[in-house]
Amino acid sequence: MQSVKIGILGLGTVGSGTVSVLKRNSKEISRRAGRGIEITRAADKNLDSPKTCDLSGIELTDDAFSVVNDPDIQIVVELIGGTGIARDLVMQAIENGKHVVTANKALIAMHGNELFAKAQEKGVTIAFEAAVAGGIPIIKAIREGLAANRIEWLAGIINGTGNFILTEMRDKGRNFADVLAEAQALGYAEADPTFDVEGIDAAHKLTIMASIAFGIPLQFYKAYTEGISKISQEDVQYAEELGYHIKHLGIAKKTAQGVELRVHPTLIPKRRLIANVNGVMNAVVVKGDAVGPTLYYGAGAGAEPTASAVVADIVDIVRALTTDPENRVPHLAFQPDSLKDTPI
Ligand code: HSE
Repeated sequence: MQSVKIGILGLGTVGSGTVSVLKRNSKEISRRAGRGIEITRAADKNLDSPKTCDLSGIELTDDAFSVVNDPDIQIVVELIGGTGIARDLVMQAIENGKHVVTANKALIAMHGNELFAKAQEKGVTIAFEAAVAGGIPIIKAIREGLAANRIEWLAGIINGTGNFILTEMRDKGRNFADVLAEAQALGYAEADPTFDVEGIDAAHKLTIMASIAFGIPLQFYKAYTEGISKISQEDVQYAEELGYHIKHLGIAKKTAQGVELRVHPTLIPKRRLIANVNGVMNAVVVKGDAVGPTLYYGAGAGAEPTASAVVADIVDIVRALTTDPENRVPHLAFQPDSLKDTPI
């Protein structure tokens, strides 16, 4: 059987990590997908800047639309980020009948409703496991693993940069700005790091998880959003003395009035598991009515942890294409025709 041809948009931290993982583990990945996967083309706006992956055998271009319009490419992997050009490229890919894999939480949280409606119309998949909690397969866990449950609430540390900053401030007494600069150098932070420290990135991710958990449309604008930028060294040390760790949480809860979405710093007693999730690690607790509380833990940012989720989505799509082209990977837990406001 012919291999499936994919095109990658963006060769930054996650794009390079995705190329590396796909090449290094190609045997295992193809066995699991039931078919070979070939990166035929990749687009990047800075082709002259050094890349951290082996790009041999891949045709490179700085024209991302040429990849999206390439008739040989079946899966477009969008790793550019943001809601500008990335949105246009993803929309064009869907129009062209291509499946899309993306790590772009802002794109899904802000434009997911229209993108999924278009994908439904065109009969293609948009997969976005890497958009939430880096390498943790939390989308799959909520959508598939907990499919039998009514989800009562979920709560998690879902921004790796923020958790790294709070951990370093607490354990090493470092100052906020220094740790943020290190998170940027390590490739954890967003292109605009205010998204990390003001809670916007966490609110994007919470919006996506809530949509799947509660079957509601994506409603980012309804989330209460507060970041960690006002937390001082004194706050962190006082919390310690009182027996707490400060953690930045995203919380989604079903109430009689609707679904409550909020993102803010929280004092958590030190003995709790989630209080001991440190550094760039993320953790999400999901409470289902049948299963009770479940906990998911892993690296929330970084090249290869995020690539792990991107590649898992590619494998899912290739497997579905190979076994039954009609058997598409589901998008969200609601149908576009149920796009109505749910009170929060
Ligand atoms: N800036 C994000 C974070 C990247 O730190 O969690 C992963 O989504």
